Amino acid sequence: MTPFGIRKKLKSLLGGGKSADTGASERPAWEVRVTAPDGSDYTVQGKQGETLVTVSGRGAYPIMTGCAEGDCGTCRVEVLAGAGSVSSEGSREQNTRQTYKVQDGWRLGCQARLEGPGLHLRIVDPFADQPAA
Ligand code: FES
Repeated sequence: MTPFGIRKKLKSLLGGGKSADTGASERPAWEVRVTAPDGSDYTVQGKQGETLVTVSGRGAYPIMTGCAEGDCGTCRVEVLAGAGSVSSEGSREQNTRQTYKVQDGWRLGCQARLEGPGLHLRIVDPFADQPAA
């Protein structure tokens, strides 16, 4: 493989170039309401299939993350409305929520994906807002 071939392969893997176009711009997008740790409210745009961490990154208070793989529980976020607009919980997320005693009605932002309209999240400071034991 020539250096140009390597560059093309890297672009493809990292999401650049025509060959990596996943049609992201064609996915439906919705407004997501966010209540921040300071109590302020605002909205961000989220596209179908994006994690809640990605969606929250467009606002003033991104969800804090640790592992970004569903193992640490740092990215816990409360779903105040629109729970049906988020992907269903996988076994990894269930296990991590149990391990770290994350309440029902909360999701791991690095695992949960936006699937529809009407979502309202409450972003917390994971070091200040500990879940009830
Ligand atoms: S960042 Fe570790 S579980 Fe989401």
